[in-house]
Amino acid sequence: MKHIISPLDLSVQDIDDILNLSENIITSPEKYAKVCQGKKLATLFYEPSTRTRLSFEAAMMNLGGNVLGFSSADSSSAAKGESVADTIRVISSYADICAMRHPKEGAPLVAAQYSSIPVINAGDGGHNHPTQTLTDLLTIKNLKGRLDNLTIGLCGDLKFGRTVHSLIRAMIRYENVKFVMISPEELRIPDYLKREVLDRENIPYEEVNVLEPVMPKLDLLYMTRVQRERFFNEEDYIRLKDSFILDAKKMKHAREDMLVLHPLPRVNEISTEIDDDPRAVYFKQAEYGVYVRMALIMKLLELDGDC
Ligand code: CP
Repeated sequence: MKHIISPLDLSVQDIDDILNLSENIITSPEKYAKVCQGKKLATLFYEPSTRTRLSFEAAMMNLGGNVLGFSSADSSSAAKGESVADTIRVISSYADICAMRHPKEGAPLVAAQYSSIPVINAGDGGHNHPTQTLTDLLTIKNLKGRLDNLTIGLCGDLKFGRTVHSLIRAMIRYENVKFVMISPEELRIPDYLKREVLDRENIPYEEVNVLEPVMPKLDLLYMTRVQRERFFNEEDYIRLKDSFILDAKKMKHAREDMLVLHPLPRVNEISTEIDDDPRAVYFKQAEYGVYVRMALIMKLLELDGDC
């Protein structure tokens, strides 16, 4: 049985298969409308979510399956002290597959060790968010036309932003990918990612703290929210939260074909004035999240469109 805890639990071939299946689902959704009939997805969310939880649920419903779960630790027996290990042992007899979000890094990995159903990490602390990465890859492939030969700007909270950490791990497997990391000094990418991922694989990257001068060289700009919930004190959050605000003036420095992605939710880091710019694709990106999660559920349950 396969669990998806890190983006590296999927090979490049697995990712290709999932992206191709997602594209087939977009083209012919009716073909997949009953693939998961009789199957159940459990969404175990110990942390807030709009897109990930609801797109997982929409994905399972689009496949003809059912969903059950909880949307906060407070509404589950975690509030009474139940461990993740005990919870997943029980859920394994209620559902066929589960998606888990947890504030503690490594919690979905612990769940996988005690589970008899596939566990999908739907975000663990500041660590990984592999299904957001699949969403990002589908967006890039479909709207940019390729996953290689890209200069990718990563902007905002690169210290706590798990979507950025997962995206880096996934993108370094494609040819000629370079990163420009744009953040305040205190929110730079963690050292372990530089050492164990970027340096080890000889991936070119630069770190800067001003956005405008690097904009002209970017194929993609991946904006992120400053992660208030991961700060130890509110003062630091307030000081750093508006470090980068992408607006129409800054977009003038970008190429005509540069795409702006954001995993959402957005707070203040992208002005709404650029929402109608054709280069701003973050709402399309959120839509792609449903299709890619449909494809992932099918892959993990070993189902195909002919069932
Ligand atoms: N992108 C993302 O994970 O959004 P949610 O927190 O709303 O799930």
